[in-house]
Amino acid sequence: MRVGLGTGSTARWFILGLAERVRQGLNVRTVATSVASATLATEHGILVEDLAPDGLDLAVDGADSIDPGLRLIKGRGGAMLREKIVAASAARFVVIADDSKYMSRLRGRIPVEVVHFGSARTLHALADRTALEFSFRAGSDGSAFTTDNGNLVADSEFTDVADPSGLAAAIDSVPGVAGHGLFLGMTSLVFVGHSDGSVEQLSVPGDTVATGG
Ligand code: A5P
Repeated sequence: MRVGLGTGSTARWFILGLAERVRQGLNVRTVATSVASATLATEHGILVEDLAPDGLDLAVDGADSIDPGLRLIKGRGGAMLREKIVAASAARFVVIADDSKYMSRLRGRIPVEVVHFGSARTLHALADRTALEFSFRAGSDGSAFTTDNGNLVADSEFTDVADPSGLAAAIDSVPGVAGHGLFLGMTSLVFVGHSDGSVEQLSVPGDTVATGG
C-alpha cells in the first residue's frame, strides 16, 4: 500500500502507530508531506519515497478546523502545499483530529503559501480580493518563516469562514500564491477523538457514526 504521511502533532501519532505496524511486518511505501515527517518516519523504519505519477492509495493527516461538510483549514505548521498535493494524489484522504477541531463552520487563520518574488504586492492583492488582513508569518527567531519549499506564509486574520469556496477562489485568483490551507471537497473520512477515549467517524456530510473507544 502507498500511504501519504501528514504533518503535525496528530499526524505524528499516526506515523508512530504505522511504524509499530511496520515492525510487525506491514509492507507500506510512504510519501511524507514535510521534511519533519519524513525524518520521523525514516527514523522509525518506514520507507519514504518521492510521490510517483500513479499516486497513493491513502493519505492520513491532521487539520486545524473541520466543518460538517468535511471541509478543512490546514497549515498551522506551514506544510499545507505538500499536504494538499499528497491528499489530492490519494484515492482516500483521511483526517484525524481531536474534537476541538470539529465546528459548525470553518474558523481560524487561513495560511497562504506565497513565492518571494513580489511578495509585498501579493500580500496587498490577497487583502484586496478577500477583504481580510494578511501578515507574513515569523519563525521562532523572528525572521520570516519559510516552508519546506522555500516560500513565505501569509496568514489571514482570524476569521469565521462563511463562504469557503468563494474565499478559496479569491485566494487562488492572486498570482504569487503557491497554495493555501483551505481543503474543500477532498476529505473521504474524518476520525474525531474525544477526551473520554471514544472516536466518531464522519464520512457523509452531517452524518456521524460512533465507533467506540
Ligand atoms: C501542518 O501544516 C498542518 O496542516 C497540520 O496538519 C495541522 O495544523 C494539524 O496540526 P496538529 O495535529 O498539530 O494540530
